[in-house]
Amino acid sequence: EVTSRAELEKLLSSTVKPDEGEIPPFIFQRSDIYQLELERIFKRNWLFIAHETEIPSPGDYVTRRMGEEDVIVSRGEDNEIRVFLNFCRHRGNRISRTDMGNCSHFRCPYHGFTYSNKGDLVGVPYRKQVYGKEFDWSKFSLIQARSDQYHGLIFATWNHEGESLDAFLGDMKWYMDIFFNRTELEVLGQPQRYEVRSNWKLPAENFVSDSYHFLFTHQSLMSVGQVKNVKERKKGYHVSATNAHGCGISAPGEEMIFNRDFMDDYEANLSEGQLGILKEMFNVHGNISPNLSFLISSRKVGDEVVSFTTIKQWQPKGPENAEGWSWLLVEKRASDRVKEMSMQSYLLNHSSSGMAEQDDGVNYEGITRNSRSDVAASVPLKYQIGLGRTPMSDFPGPGTVYEGKWQEENARKYYEWWLGSLLDSGV
Ligand code: FES
Ligand code: FE
Repeated sequence: EVTSRAELEKLLSSTVKPDEGEIPPFIFQRSDIYQLELERIFKRNWLFIAHETEIPSPGDYVTRRMGEEDVIVSRGEDNEIRVFLNFCRHRGNRISRTDMGNCSHFRCPYHGFTYSNKGDLVGVPYRKQVYGKEFDWSKFSLIQARSDQYHGLIFATWNHEGESLDAFLGDMKWYMDIFFNRTELEVLGQPQRYEVRSNWKLPAENFVSDSYHFLFTHQSLMSVGQVKNVKERKKGYHVSATNAHGCGISAPGEEMIFNRDFMDDYEANLSEGQLGILKEMFNVHGNISPNLSFLISSRKVGDEVVSFTTIKQWQPKGPENAEGWSWLLVEKRASDRVKEMSMQSYLLNHSSSGMAEQDDGVNYEGITRNSRSDVAASVPLKYQIGLGRTPMSDFPGPGTVYEGKWQEENARKYYEWWLGSLLDSGV
């Protein structure tokens, strides 16, 4: 597969047809497409990197990834959050080799260059003997990404001139307010990391668009009584927002899954329309482009309904592999007992070893494997459910919203956005 960029672009624009609901499987397999994704998607867009509560105090840091770039997310002595390439300005070694910690300085293990947690080079061993008198410290500051946050979710980008995070999230903010700002949330524990033998787009697409698979893939959850039969719960909404962000909201309106003790927060933080959705919502799955998925669900423990909120990121690791990252968010005001129950529900269903997560992984892996087949690689996959359906006109929130959960519109939108990004050379 030696193809010039121009040939590749031509191949993509003639075979990827999201508006007709046809996508060729080779987009999950080719390394030249993967390279283009790193350049035109991961280097240009806002990417989630951490939740604010993971680094609450000055000096706290975590090491994360932006596409394939290793970064340090650091809360400086001045309490400001900064994102640095984990890359020594001397000769490029990794500066931090731990997942998390608290420090005032980062020291490179090669020659000992030392950086403050604000990114300035402040120490060079034997500097005068080695470099002589002249030394321009300012030329050695850590490479810094642009960062911003929304309701505690920290994002960063290498695109210093592009649109703001606010504009990038666009319509999705109205929904994120409900999911992440109904009351204050915090990360409980550390994120789980696990290997997913899948192209990174498949889980993202599944989260943004696919409620349909639940009926079949996740039958086990129903058969062991974790979830009531969802066939009776088809009421819901399929929401397409700015930049192919989106979600599927299940809304049977039976019983609010959120803690009633925090109603004062919900009322203070949400508009009437948002509050209405919160009250009737039973479950939501979604994705913020390119690779941050989220899910809120619940479980009955005795007479209590306990919700859990998880965010998941699908880090690209070559065309056929991804690394799943998974966080649990809990309500800060909840009691330790409720937090513990929330953790148990999450672990049981949607952690790396959770029943639903395991079920899903097999599908992603199967499609990725098949995309390697010469015969299959060009046979268009069908994403045609709901083509031509008319959106709702009376939904209280922004974006394009369809009644009912079983739709493939968000997947079509996702690949349309993906294709547009890949074909945009940026010149
Ligand atoms: Fe970091 Fe030399 S490479 S100090
Ligand atoms: Fe699933």
